Parts: sequence; structure tokens; C-alpha cells
Amino acid sequence: MIRGKFITLEGGEGVGKTTNLAFIKDYLQQHNITVVVTREPGGTVLAEKIRHILLDKHSEAISEHAELLLMFAARAQHIKHVIEPALAQGRWVLCDRFTDATYAYQGGGRNMRSSTIECLENLVQGPLRPDLTLLLDAPVEIGIERARKRGAFDRFEAEKISFFEQVRRAYLLQAELHPERIKLIKANQPLADVQRALIEVIHTLLR
Ligand code: TMP
Repeated sequence: MIRGKFITLEGGEGVGKTTNLAFIKDYLQQHNITVVVTREPGGTVLAEKIRHILLDKHSEAISEHAELLLMFAARAQHIKHVIEPALAQGRWVLCDRFTDATYAYQGGGRNMRSSTIECLENLVQGPLRPDLTLLLDAPVEIGIERARKRGAFDRFEAEKISFFEQVRRAYLLQAELHPERIKLIKANQPLADVQRALIEVIHTLLR
């Protein structure tokens, strides 16, 4: 059995991940690939419960360490029960956010050390890394406006603009550090152009 490929989709708030995730899924299925679409934090029953803890607003502030550990607790469940079994069965996994989001949000946004995140990454993931990461990038104001039009803000969406500027910078740094894996896609261009760029990159995996 040939192991499936692991693709992650990343980007700040309101960059169009949902639309493009559906587009990539359709594209892969048209190429006869069995694809499992999932998301983080979440993707299993328990990980979705952890997602609620992370995204809901609480009267008690969540400490930065608790936030980081909850992200990785959800990820550990997700890897064990969804990602690894699917890849082992030859399915492709298309995941809305993964560990690059931790480097961006907890590392960039919350100023947590990369070395701490890296420790947990190695502990929880072992050698598992995405085969390809598509990073949708757009100026922060554009994305935030789009995200906030969707309705009530979650705990992250309620953050200040400066938080999202730090998130964006950290994502771009991740792309610089891992140019082989992370492909930067400009999200503030017409959707057809975004999707053309996505296909160009995904096509290299299909070959
Ligand atoms: P979503 O709304 O795009 O599904 O993502 C949920 C939120 O969780 C989003 O604001 C980013 C945040 N997040 C982190 O802070 N760290 C992580 O590792 C992941 C996966 C998501």
C-alpha cells in the first residue's frame, strides 16, 4: 500500500481557506484520489471538544501554556485516530491548519518560543510533517474584515490587529524556513488566479 500524501492549508483569518479547501478536495477527487478532509484544532470527537475550549470565550483566561498544550493535545488525538490511519491506508489527508498555525498563532501571536513549540512538535508528531503546505497570504485588514462579517468573534478573532500582524509575520517566516514544503499563495487576487496557483503547486504532488 502506497502511503497517502498529507496536505495542509494555512493562513490568517478570512483568507479564503474554506472555499479553497473545497476546491482542492474536488480537484484531487477528479484525479481519482481518495481524500479525507479534516481540520485543526479538531477532527475527532475529543479534539472537537478541545476546539470548543480553545475557541469559546471563558470567564477564566486560558494561560498561554494551556493554550499551546491544548492545541497539541487535540493534535495528538487527531494524528492517532484520523491522520495516520488515513495515510497508512493510502488516502490523502487535506487538513485545514496544522502545526504551522501553532508557530504562527502561539509563536508569533502569543510570543511563545519556537524551541518550545518544536519540542512538542517532535514529541506529538514524531517524524510526521505535511508533504505540502499551502499558505494563503493576504494583508491583515482585508482578512479580518471578511472574518468579522461572518458573525460573532471567537476567542482568536477577538484579538487586536497587532496580534494578526504578528501571526502573518510568523507564517511568512515559516515559509522562508521551509521553502520546499510551504508554498506561498497570494490570496488577495481574483479567486480564479488563486485557484490557478493552487493547481500549479498541487500538480507537482500528483506527478
Ligand atoms: P479556524 O477558525 O480557521 O478553523 O481556526 C481556529 C482558530 O484556531 C484560528 O483562529 C487559529 C487558531 N489556531 C491556533 O491558534 N493554533 C493552532 O495550532 C491551530 C491549528 C489553530
